Amino acid sequence: MVLNKQRLEAELLIEGKNTDLPFRLHIFETVASTNKTVWKLLSQKPGSECVVIAAEQTAGRGQWGRQWVSQKDGLYLSLGFAPKLDINLGYQLTLATAWGIAEQFRKYGVDVEIKWPNDLVLDNRKLGGILTETKVNAGKITQAVIGVGINWKNPVPATGINLHSWQNRGNPIQISCLEKLAALVLLGIHSGIQCLEREGVNILLSRYIKLLSNMGDKVYVNDDFSGTVVGVTTTGNLHLHRSSADTLSGTPASIYLQPGTISLGYRKYKD
Ligand code: BTN
Repeated sequence: MVLNKQRLEAELLIEGKNTDLPFRLHIFETVASTNKTVWKLLSQKPGSECVVIAAEQTAGRGQWGRQWVSQKDGLYLSLGFAPKLDINLGYQLTLATAWGIAEQFRKYGVDVEIKWPNDLVLDNRKLGGILTETKVNAGKITQAVIGVGINWKNPVPATGINLHSWQNRGNPIQISCLEKLAALVLLGIHSGIQCLEREGVNILLSRYIKLLSNMGDKVYVNDDFSGTVVGVTTTGNLHLHRSSADTLSGTPASIYLQPGTISLGYRKYKD
């Protein structure tokens, strides 16, 4: 189903109230990847902001070079803009986006949590993911594309969940159409980036951590050692406190894992 542009603009006006969202909106039936299309548009008009939404993707990109299966009836959305961040701080855009979108869902009674680093989870299953791509010039990130995939009505694997079936399992139906979902995601990205820019990364992290489903979990790293999740750093690394048996050997009590070095998996869930 192709999203209706006028309806999305109306939803943005209702939900965003006075929020100024200064981007051009492009809606497609099929693209290879909305991230790729945004990069192409940015190269034609450098310095601009744009949003691309597609009904399906034929070569959707996931984190760590994985494929993002993108059948019809999902939400596939990318936003391109010029953030001006230090080269090593690009991951903050993903943390900000994850927090902003999760917070928007929660305003609608959909208790989305974050699974480190970039998964949006509902009832311990994956509802969506975020892929941020950046370009660098003279030590600064000068362009970024934030891509978000959310399971709306599309089929999902056993560890996934789609919002439409969750709402139809006795949960209140607050997000009634794809246009409302897209508006909520755009406002979520906007509010996350605004929090990062105006309030700073430490405030953002304190909010992100409140929604982090992994806090307090025991994590085993390569059968070498284990630790408890105590937080996330400003570069997006997972902060573990090593178990006391490990620290007796004189190794540091804290360990930091970069995004992509381990997968935390999903907790057991009820059907
Ligand atoms: C993940 O692996 O969890 C991140 C998935 C991000 C998928 C979205 S869908 C819209 C945008 N376009 C892409 O090709 N990927 C992102």
